[in-house]
Amino acid sequence: MTRPALRICAWLAAIVPAVFFASWSFGTAPGPQQTQVQRGEYLARAGDCISCHTAQGGAPYAGGYRLNTPFGYMLASNITPDPDTGIGRWSLDDFYRAMHHGLNKDGQDMYPAMPYDFYSKVTREDVAAIFAYLLTVEPVRNEVDANHMDFPFNLRSTMAVWRELHFKEGALQPDPARPPSWNRGAYLVEGLGHCSGCHSPRNVIGGIEKSKTLTGAVVDGWFAPDLTTDIATGLGSWTVDEIAAYLKTGVAKGRTAAFGPMAEVVQNSLSYLTDSDVRAMAEYLKAIPPDSALRSGRPMPSPARARGAALYMGYCSGCHQATGAGIAGVFSPLAGNAAAIAPDPGNILQAMLLGIPAQFNHGAMPAFAAQLNDQQIADIANYVRSSWGNTAPPNAAAATVARLRVPAR
Ligand code: HEC
Ligand code: HEC
Ligand code: HEC
Repeated sequence: MTRPALRICAWLAAIVPAVFFASWSFGTAPGPQQTQVQRGEYLARAGDCISCHTAQGGAPYAGGYRLNTPFGYMLASNITPDPDTGIGRWSLDDFYRAMHHGLNKDGQDMYPAMPYDFYSKVTREDVAAIFAYLLTVEPVRNEVDANHMDFPFNLRSTMAVWRELHFKEGALQPDPARPPSWNRGAYLVEGLGHCSGCHSPRNVIGGIEKSKTLTGAVVDGWFAPDLTTDIATGLGSWTVDEIAAYLKTGVAKGRTAAFGPMAEVVQNSLSYLTDSDVRAMAEYLKAIPPDSALRSGRPMPSPARARGAALYMGYCSGCHQATGAGIAGVFSPLAGNAAAIAPDPGNILQAMLLGIPAQFNHGAMPAFAAQLNDQQIADIANYVRSSWGNTAPPNAAAATVARLRVPAR
C-alpha cells in the first residue's frame, strides 16, 4: 500500500466521530438560515485564508504571497476555481485531504507553511462549506510554483520527518464538562484561527512543545505575546469582554491596540466574526492556565499576589511599566526603588493614597485613595515589594492603609 492510501484509511477511521460530534458541540455560526456558501465564506474568514492566499495587490485567493522560512521560501497557492492553475478540478475529497491531512492533489506532503496542522481540527462539514464557497470566487489564471525551499527541503518527502514528529491529524474532541461557548472557542482558536501558528514557540525542527502552547513567540521579527492567563506576561488581567473587543475591533481600551501582524489578522479575519464567536474565543483563552503554574511546575502565586499583580497591571503599569522598569527620565523605576523596598511600606502606600504633584520637572502621579480600597492598595504594595528582584517583606496590611488614610482625608 502506498503511503497516501494508508493515510486515507486512517482518515476514514478518524472522520466518523468527527462528523458525529460536529453536529452538536461546535455550533454552526452564524445562523441556520444561511446557505452553505455563506457559511463557507464566514469560515474562510475565520481561517484567514485570504491573508496568505492573496499576493500584495493581487486578486483574492489567486496565490503568490511569499512566506519566508529559515530554509527558503514558499509562495501560497492559487485556490481560486481556475481549472488549470487553481483548484477548479479538485473534488471535495481532494480538498478535505489537503485541509485535514496536508497532502496535495498529487498525494504529496504539503509544507506546514500552510497551517494544516491546525485546520486538521476543522470538521468535514465546515471544510465542505469552505470548498463550496471557494468554488464561487472569481477564477483567476495564475500559475504559482509554491516550492522555493533550499535543498534538501525542496524535496517534499523531507516533510515526512516533520509530519511524523509533529503532526497529529484529527478532530478536536469536545469537552462535555465545559459549556458550549468554551468548546466553540476552543474549536475556533485551535482550529481555523490557528492562533498557535504565531503565538506558540517552536523548537529548532519547527514543532510546538505542548507545554509551551500559546506562551508567546517571535514571528518575522515581531513578538506574538503570551495568550495564557499568566498575570504578568499573558492575559491574566484582561477581562473576557476586553479580549473579545480586542479581537473584534483591534483595540482593548486603555491597554493596547493591534499594530503589527495582529492588525492584519483582525482586519482580514476576526473583525468579520460574530460577537458570540469572538466572545467564545475570549472565554477559551481566559481558561488557559498560566505558563507558570501547570506548565513548569512552579507554584501558583498566592491569591493576594495574583490580585496585586492584576491591580498593578491595571493602575500602575501604564506609567511604571509591567516590568517595574519605569521610563527613563519620565517615570521612576519601581524595581530597586527605595520607596518600594524599604523595610516599612509607608512610602509606597502614601504615594498611592496622596498621589505626587508635578514637581522637579516631572509630571504628576494621580492619587488612588478614592478608586482603590485598603486591601487593594495593600495588595499592590506587596506585589511591588516582592517583584522584579525586589525582596522586601510583603508586610503592607489593609489596616496600615486605613490608619494612613485618616490624615489623608
Ligand atoms: C499562513 C499562510 C496560509 C494560510 C493562513 C492558509 N494557507 Fe493554504 N497554503 C499556504 C501555502 C504556503 C501553501 C502551499 C503549500 C505546499 O505547496 O506545500 C498552501 C496550499 C493550500 C492548498 C493546496 C493548493 C495546491 O494547489 O496544492 C489549499 C487547498 C489551501 N492552501 C487552502 C487553504 C484554505 C482553505 C485556507 C483557509 C482555511 C488556507 N489555505 C490558509 C499557506 C496558507
Ligand atoms: C500572523 C501571526 C499572528 C496570528 C495568526 C495571530 N496573532 Fe495575535 N498577535 C500577533 C502579534 C505579532 C501580536 C502583537 C503585536 C501586534 O499587534 O501585531 C499579537 C497580539 C495579540 C493579542 C494582544 C496581546 C497583548 O498582550 O497585547 C491578542 C489578545 C492576540 N494577539 C490574540 C490572537 C488570537 C486569539 C489569534 C487567533 C485567532 C491570534 N492572535 C492570531 C500575531 C498573530
Ligand atoms: C499617570 C502616570 C502614573 C501612574 C498611573 C502611577 N504613577 Fe507612580 N509615579 C508617577 C510619577 C510622575 C511619579 C513621580 C516621579 C517619577 O516617578 O519620576 C511617580 C512616583 C511613584 C513612586 C515614588 C517613587 C519615586 O522614586 O519617585 C511610587 C512608589 C509609585 N509612583 C508607585 C505607583 C504605584 C504603586 C502606582 C499604581 C497604583 C502608580 N505609581 C501609578 C506616575 C504614575
